[in-house]
Amino acid sequence: MGAIMTGRREFLSTIGLVGAGLAFPRLAACAQEPSPQPPPKKSSGAERVAGKMLTRKIPSTGQALPVIGVGTSGSYEVPLTSAEYKSLETVLRVFFEGGGSVIDTSPNYSNAEDVVGALLAGGGWRDQTFLATKLAADDRAALEHQWADSLRRLRVERVELLQVHNLRNLDQALGYARELKARGLTRYIGITHYLDSAQAEVARVLRAERPDFVQINYSVQSPRAADTVFPVAQELGVAVLVNRAFEDGRLFTAAQNRALPAWAAEIGVTSWAQMFLKFAISHSAVTAVIPATGKPERQADNLRAGVGPLLDARQQSELRAMFA
Ligand SMILES: NC(=O)c1ccc[n+]([C@@H]2O[C@H](COP(=O)([O-])OP(=O)(O)OC[C@H]3O[C@@H](n4cnc5c(N)ncnc54)[C@H](OP(=O)(O)O)[C@@H]3O)[C@@H](O)[C@H]2O)c1
Repeated sequence: MGAIMTGRREFLSTIGLVGAGLAFPRLAACAQEPSPQPPPKKSSGAERVAGKMLTRKIPSTGQALPVIGVGTSGSYEVPLTSAEYKSLETVLRVFFEGGGSVIDTSPNYSNAEDVVGALLAGGGWRDQTFLATKLAADDRAALEHQWADSLRRLRVERVELLQVHNLRNLDQALGYARELKARGLTRYIGITHYLDSAQAEVARVLRAERPDFVQINYSVQSPRAADTVFPVAQELGVAVLVNRAFEDGRLFTAAQNRALPAWAAEIGVTSWAQMFLKFAISHSAVTAVIPATGKPERQADNLRAGVGPLLDARQQSELRAMFA
């Protein structure tokens, strides 16, 4: 696990924002500052070690993944010629320089796959990326067509993870994903959902199909996966990606005007975004969390959740009670 970073400038230099001229004006707006810091060390690469992101192993292979990934729903569905796209170039630069790797997308997030493909090609980041996309179609011909299209739009020859979206057309889609895995076109296969009401079925499918990955919703406000999906994933050795850790952004409204708990500074947390993400990765079943943002300063904020101590059981329970 990474140690607590030793100062704000160290972390920001680690994630590349100082060079980008972005860090201080915007992050200075953080409501709470870290606890008093020791004097900064000389820059000799030591800050990279100090701010190194926590990783977790994929149970089926032992491959390590950084705990903070990115999602692409909404935030990456922007025209390739827009200012939002330019902003995403910085978002991903911050992400990769901060030690990120996991990117989750889907053919049914309008043009997000095109955007991810263009960004990875433009930045030369493909080799650093653990790229996850999905299958979401209702017959074999449509699945084949969709997969070919995903490769073309993402500008890749294979992906790291192919997931059946919301269990749709499960038998056929998972069968096809297994074929693609056998052909070396995806390293891992998985299933996804984002609703509490689907979690019992997701757990049943995990037992029946034993995919490499499951992606599920989990947050301070919707913590049920800890009782439904996570124990099964841990028992079977299935990696877990967490979606909706911010409840699609709604948690920030719920947290408005609320002070962080007094113990936040002890674990190096200076924003609600960091707190919500730390809550997600504090469960030992979780391999990575995939928050979506189109804003560089938010990406930097989210990455900070991947370093330093995690939440203990009492702190997790206090957060659940606050947002119940
Ligand atoms: N069935 C499925 O397979 C499924 C379902 C849901 C989600 N997912 C995946 O999981 C990912 C995450 O879920 P999500 O995108 O629905 O919701 P989310 O990550 O819970 O929330 C995203 C929202 O939070 C805002 N945000 C991000 N970082 C922030 C920060 N530091 N401070 C303030 N606001 C911040 C974003 O706005 P800005 O962009 O304006 O910053 C965006 O509106 C998706 O993108 C997708 O890849 C999969």
